[in-house]
This record gives sequence, structure tokens and C-alpha cells, in this order.
Amino acid sequence: MTEKLIIFDTTLRDGEQSPGASMNTAEKLRLATQLEKLGVDVIEAGFPAASQGDFEAVSQIAAKLKNCEIAALARTSKSDLDCAWRAIAHAAKPRIHTFIATSDIHMKYKLNMSREEVIKTAMEGVRYAKSFTENVEFSAEDGSRSDRDFLCQVFAAAISVGATTINLPDTVGYAIPEEFANLVRYVIAHTPNIEKAILSVHCHNDLGLAAANTLAAVCAGARQVEVTVNGIGERAGNTSMEEVVMSIHTRPNLFPVQARVDTTLIHPTSRLVSMITGIMVQPNKAIVGANAFAHEAGIHQDGVLKNPMTYEIMRPETIGLSSNKLILGKHSGRHALRSHLKEMGYELSDEELQLIFTKFKELADKKKHVMDEDLEALVTEGILRTADIFRLEYLHVSSGTTIHPVASVKMSINGRSAESTAYGNGPIDATFNTIAKLTGTQSELLRFSIAALTGGTDAQGEVTVRLGENGLIAIGRGADSDIITASAKAYINGLNRLEYLKAHPFTASEVL
Ligand code: KIV
Ligand code: ZN
Repeated sequence: MTEKLIIFDTTLRDGEQSPGASMNTAEKLRLATQLEKLGVDVIEAGFPAASQGDFEAVSQIAAKLKNCEIAALARTSKSDLDCAWRAIAHAAKPRIHTFIATSDIHMKYKLNMSREEVIKTAMEGVRYAKSFTENVEFSAEDGSRSDRDFLCQVFAAAISVGATTINLPDTVGYAIPEEFANLVRYVIAHTPNIEKAILSVHCHNDLGLAAANTLAAVCAGARQVEVTVNGIGERAGNTSMEEVVMSIHTRPNLFPVQARVDTTLIHPTSRLVSMITGIMVQPNKAIVGANAFAHEAGIHQDGVLKNPMTYEIMRPETIGLSSNKLILGKHSGRHALRSHLKEMGYELSDEELQLIFTKFKELADKKKHVMDEDLEALVTEGILRTADIFRLEYLHVSSGTTIHPVASVKMSINGRSAESTAYGNGPIDATFNTIAKLTGTQSELLRFSIAALTGGTDAQGEVTVRLGENGLIAIGRGADSDIITASAKAYINGLNRLEYLKAHPFTASEVL
């Protein structure tokens, strides 16, 4: 019989622990809204005790979303649990997720606690969480490296005081699929009250096995999977939502479960996550990479033309990649734009649509065909990035074979206009020098990359920069049909993100 598989999305919490992935509250709200549309069952919105910013974001997500469960992470301390509850008390479906480490190495070196103390603390935490809500998840951090019998003891104790979900994390991405499946079976067989809770798994990808371990666990009896979009997360990342969902969708006979995710929203959601976090998806990434449905070899192309199923195990449309990607031109109207953006997963308010429509017309004047990628860039820059301190107002660059490149830039800084000029080794260097002068930034440019969003010489260039300052790392992105303007936008976006990180220095990754 097919059972329900609960999809617990932690893009906003563990995903945000990816280096440089921090999102502001408006970005988190937008992503949470998209995750709800995608059909995940639980959204782990953040770790409220980690920072005021996290608390705010979780609280606003809890107030807005009505169909998903909203989980808040907390250690087992009363102060963490109080804070988590304050952030989600007003949610339609709140869940507290509390955790403590159970492996010998974590208990000895991190917690400095005995096994008895850990069991007692876990029970106190769950009991206290239960005083707020029925819906309590308990995680045994570093569960896969814990003593099996002790792990079962901790789980039994947590369930005995009311945990409704128990989560088995492979925190350091150490497990191998068969071994992890055996552990899940062991937990089911040796936790006496296991039938009173849902068994969940949470895997990390240090050995590239997070999805494989998660799927093996599902076959062994796990009924909740903790995942992130694009697999972003701490270090090598978490289990990728799209890999798990599409494995189950593509090979239904091998899995005794079904998820309620709308697969056609997978691609737009993936794009949204990379736009917001600045973390690009590698081209050969399963399901959502740019090459995932590209057939290069002649024999393959020939086969796909005769029958796509010769080399395609999934249809691109199933994950929301439109086969007809060429879309709008300068004669397209507002209505066509709205409905196409909706297909791409962006539901805009009237004001937002008006803003994007104006930018779309400007772009369509420069570029014959406006593609999905162009629209995504417009939406990202026009709407998804908010509350910026620095904005580009004007850029003029002189460059060529016989002159020393020079840039003049006008910016709005905290609402005030300022302009300056500087020279550089090339037009982009001159532009960056001027922006650095205007903003007074102390940051260092650690990486600069440029890619064409679509084909043709009129393609928009997309620039990604990585900036570092006093240990903080921020990614900035910008797109424009002029690559120097795209570079300026990316640099300014990175500087805004650095400012955000400076204002919210105490991020979740520093707490865990
Ligand atoms: O990886 C991990 O162990 C976690 C827990 C907090 C669930 O993220
Ligand atoms: Zn984790």
C-alpha cells in the first residue's frame, strides 16, 4: 500500500547555513510562499534563538502561511524553546523542532554531558515544547554516529514524553545507503513505542550520498524526509528535494510512498532559490542543472527526436521546464507577461507587475526575444531584492584600445545621491574602483564570474561576485545586456548583502 511521505523542507534553516546564503526577511517570505505552493508539508522557517532577524522571518512566515506546518528549530533549553514558540505561536499549524546531540564524540567534546544527562535533557526539552504545542519533533544530532542502542533509548524517551516525530540525522554525511537503511530498521525494531511517532531522516551530502541515504531510509520505513531545494546547506549541503521527489515520481514501483509535491513547480522553485541565495546550480546537477535535459551526442539527439524516452527518463515539462522557452517580444502585453510569469512560478501584485512590465519593455527594445532567463533576472533584480542600502542610479564608462578606462558612477546610498569617478585597468575594474570609492567598502573581491544568460550577442550577461570582509562572505549577482552594468549591479548587490550580514552577524551557522 502507498503511504504518505512527509516532505519537510529546511531550505530556510539548514539551507541558509550554506556559506554566503543568508536571505533577508522579504526574501524568506517569498521563498516560503513558493514552497507552500510547491506542496511541501512542513517548512522549517528558521532558528529563532539564533538571531533577531531569524526570529522576525520565522514569525512573519508563521503569520502568512496557512496550509503548511511551520517548524521552528530550538535547542532543548527553555530560552530557545520559549523563543521558538513566540515565533510560531500564531501559525495555523505550528511545530517545534528540538534537538540534542547523541553521539559519544558530540556528548564528550561539545556538550560535556553523560548519556544519562542527555536523555534527561532531551526529555525536559520535549516535555517543555509539548506544553506549547501537540506537534513536537525531536532530533538526535549526529544520530548516524551514535551508539545504536543508546539512540533507541533516547528516541523512546522522547516519544514517551510526547514527541510526535523523531528525526534521525546523518549530520556529518558519513553514512552509506545500506548501512543507513539498516540503522532505520534497527531503530524501528528496537524503539518500543516507535509506532506513536513518525520516523524522519535528515541527511547531509559530504560523501555525495544524501539523496541515496534518504531514499534507502524511505524503503526501510522512514516516512518523513528533510530536504532542501537544490540541496543547499551546511558544507556539502543537504538532501536535495528535487532528487528525492523525482526519484519517487520516476520509479513509483520501488517506493511504498507518495509525496504531494507539484513537480511542475520544481524548476521555478530551484531558480528562485538560486536567485535569492546567489548560489548557482552546477550545470550537471541532477533534475535542475542547466544540462539535465540537454542532449549533446548526435546519437542521443537522434534518439530523442525519434522518441524522447530513448534517453530521457523524465519529461522536462514534469519539472516545469517549458519546452517552448522562446516567449515574449516588444509587442507582448501586460496580460501575456503576467500569465507567463505565473507559469514560471512568480505571482506578482499589480504594482510589482507594473514595475517588471516597464523593465521588460526597456529590455525588449534592446533585445529581440526576451527569454525565461531574462524575465527571471528582471524579477530578481526588480522585486526579490529589497531593502538595499546601495542602488545604482547611473553608470558611464569610457574604454578602448587607446584610452585609460575610466568610470563615472552615480549611486543612491541610504537614500542620498552621490557620484564619483575613478580609473582602472579595464572598464569593470574602473567601475568597481568607483563604486568602492563611493561606498567606502573595505571588502575584498574574492571571485568574479560572468556568463551569458541565453545565446546570441544580444544576450544578457549574468555576473556573480563573491565578496569577503572580516570573515563575512557575501554573494552578489546582477544581469544586464551590458556586461559592465551587470558587473556593477552584481558588485552593488554583494555590498548590500554584506551590509545585511554585518547587521545580522549572529547567524544560525554560528550557533550550531
Ligand atoms: O544536521 C543536523 O543534525 C541538523 C539537526 C539540527 C536536525 O541540522
Ligand atoms: Zn542538518
